[in-house]
Amino acid sequence: MKYQAPRGTHDILPNEAVVWRDLEGYFRHVVGLYGYGEVRTPAFEDTELFKRTSGETSDIVTKQMYEFTDKGGRSITLKAEGTAPAVRAYLEHGLGGQGQTTRLWYQTPVFRYERPQKGRYRQHHQFGIECLGSASPQADAEVIEVAYRFLNMIGISDVKVSVNSIGREATRSSYRQAVLSHAAGYLADLEADERARAEKNPLRLLDSKDPKAIEVMKAAPSILDYLEDESRMRFDTLCGILADIDIPFEVRPEIVRGLDYYTDTVFEVLSDQLGAQSALCGGGRYDGLVRALGGPDTPAVGFGMGIERLALVLESLRFNSGESIQAYVVAATESARSEVSRICRLLRSKDVSAQCDVDGKDLRRQMKQADAMKAEAAVIIGDDELASGNATVRYLESGDQRAVPFSELASHIGRLYD
Ligand code: HAM
Repeated sequence: MKYQAPRGTHDILPNEAVVWRDLEGYFRHVVGLYGYGEVRTPAFEDTELFKRTSGETSDIVTKQMYEFTDKGGRSITLKAEGTAPAVRAYLEHGLGGQGQTTRLWYQTPVFRYERPQKGRYRQHHQFGIECLGSASPQADAEVIEVAYRFLNMIGISDVKVSVNSIGREATRSSYRQAVLSHAAGYLADLEADERARAEKNPLRLLDSKDPKAIEVMKAAPSILDYLEDESRMRFDTLCGILADIDIPFEVRPEIVRGLDYYTDTVFEVLSDQLGAQSALCGGGRYDGLVRALGGPDTPAVGFGMGIERLALVLESLRFNSGESIQAYVVAATESARSEVSRICRLLRSKDVSAQCDVDGKDLRRQMKQADAMKAEAAVIIGDDELASGNATVRYLESGDQRAVPFSELASHIGRLYD
């Protein structure tokens, strides 16, 4: 018998592992800049944790949980999403003090029994952050900013940030009526259990994958017209902050998310490179979740980001998938050799990976080596450069070349893409 990885799962081979390691490093770096602390929770939890939080009408609970009874008779579910386990750990270990904001991040496998296709797996992996304890729209903006800055840092800048507000209980019950009457004809044709599910939570119709539902819901009323004053103000404030901090976004009232714990702000970051599974990242505010798990009233907001999808986008951007370095520093003349070593050390001290020749290779062979190393840039130092204090930086893929002062090299090259 030939064994294969189970359907919907995949091995991460050495070439890909290099990319994953880089992504993990960049993510850790970015969340560190904002003061998030890491939490690692088990690969499985009590089934009840997910049932109570994801929502009884969610796809996760109705169709996708890897649920089993262990040998001690307990009902166990493989981690179906990252938020509820992080909140469980937050409560179990008393990580939040009175009036305190607690920032957590994680990287985790997630298990969902889905129909596998490109970008959709039965075991996928997520980076996530959860900011617990703040009700401020500033916190919503911070969470969106972390996602956006991280994506930019790894060279994924062509993304759409879509935001929406789904309000609170009152908004949803009046909106529910509006959607039910809008979709009455469609609902009448559904199978009884599908209809019951949609009637219980008509928001599900907005993210339904059924082409007929998608067509019907194109003309559905906008939930934004049903927001109460407080939710409306929060949403307007959030949009104002996002504009102030230069995060391009669009308001998309059809974004409701597939989990039931959200309140007010919801958002997704989409990439055109991904085809049907276009969401790189999804998240929002979930002010009722901590309480639902037995904790005090604690507002919170966070996101989850699919690592496989990041890797797919980077692949489509022809991200280097072998071991590589950012800068190969080249001595164009013998007299430049000691300055070349100094610049290499300087770049590394600023977190830019750099290499130079130590075997006395001539200029042509050093340039060949830079190519072989898949360096992002060759930093060329010769007599002219020594005299002017400006290095010649050549981007190897595009062939672009420019003069950069020695002291600015790190900030110039310290990104995956210029
Ligand atoms: P989610 O939208 O279910 O949210 O998942 C977050 C991200 O994980 C998605 O945007 C997508 O990139 C990736 N993803 C989801 N399912 C799959 C799959 N089957 N295969 C590959 N990638 C997938 C959550 O899980 C929430 N816990 C996010 C959150 C955190 N909300 C607040 N805090």
